[in-house]
Amino acid sequence: MIHDTLARALHILDPEDAHTATILGLRLGLGPVDRTPDDPILATTLAGIPLASPIGLAAGFDKNAEVPTAMLRAGFGFVECGTVTPLPQAGNPRPRLFRLREDRGVINRLGFNNAGLGAFATHLARRRKTGPVGANIGANKDSEDRIGDYVQGLQRLWGLADWFTVNISSPNTPGLRALQTRAALEELLGRLAEARRAMTGDYPVFLKVAPDLEDGEVETIVETVAAFGLQGIIVSNTTVSRPGALRDAQKVETGGLSGPPLMALSTAMLARFHAANDKGLVLIGAGGVASGADALAKIRAGASAVQLYSAMVFEGPGLVTRVKQDLAARLRAEGFASVNEAVGAG
Ligand SMILES: Cc1cc2nc3c(=O)[nH]c(=O)nc-3n(C[C@H](O)[C@H](O)[C@H](O)COP(=O)(O)O)c2cc1C
Repeated sequence: MIHDTLARALHILDPEDAHTATILGLRLGLGPVDRTPDDPILATTLAGIPLASPIGLAAGFDKNAEVPTAMLRAGFGFVECGTVTPLPQAGNPRPRLFRLREDRGVINRLGFNNAGLGAFATHLARRRKTGPVGANIGANKDSEDRIGDYVQGLQRLWGLADWFTVNISSPNTPGLRALQTRAALEELLGRLAEARRAMTGDYPVFLKVAPDLEDGEVETIVETVAAFGLQGIIVSNTTVSRPGALRDAQKVETGGLSGPPLMALSTAMLARFHAANDKGLVLIGAGGVASGADALAKIRAGASAVQLYSAMVFEGPGLVTRVKQDLAARLRAEGFASVNEAVGAG
């Protein structure tokens, strides 16, 4: 409660300053603690990783892996840190983060601002292992070998994270999303597979895609992801589209839109991936989750687990506890004995 009130009070600040203050508070141990044990009906696995609940924190909240333990303590079943690029990078000029209050949406054009692989690796190496934490990897804007940047991320963080997400879907690094086309994707995933084979141990690797794909791209991505031995796909990142129902004046800002206005589009894209998935890939749903009903809609559309970020901007960190409780009640009410039974139930 107190944390949700505080989160709303932070709205008098510029959104990026509010975020910086939140990370600082979490680093100082002032974050919320979810003391309610997770309902056993929520226990599941994600590509072999045991989860106490399928509600995870999406990438972008903790870009430098500073507070994954605090976010697990706040109640998330799994936490994805990043996107991290090999070299530290300032990102785009401010302002670059906008709250669409009237639509409960967010637009960001941060552009992979982060402290680089060195700091990220140090933070992960120091963490107490209290739950699943993943690393979302990307490429520097000015890199001459973008694919090489992803390889560096995988190699530097191998053994330090429980899974890896290859992010080729941020709209804020010019040209990045072109890696979603077949030839580029084959080269990227081929080089990652080669790097992975040369290392000891194994960890799941997921590809994170945009919700703005054309007909045919979904099938190509499923085929390529499976052919190169990745475990799954996160659907989706933010959208460059602007749904017609948006009302807030800030909707004209350039960048990726997230939060509830993205729910319908990203869930429809997830359902397309589920329909095309004849390869047994794991799907993770992200985009607009703000309630247990939203989480269940993603699971029914084919997600084994879901991630959220933007709704927390408006509702505070207590949201995750409410989403979990609501999801557990809905699973029972709809006759499911486990999360897994509901995956892809339509
Ligand atoms: C401020 C902000 C920063 C983000 N940064 C990243 C990022 O660095 N890497 C990434 O893969 N996704 C990033 N995302 C996208 C989220 O991980 C998520 O896919 C998207 O916002 C949809 O979920 P949501 O509607 O629950 O926020 C960011 C989102 C927001 C709002």
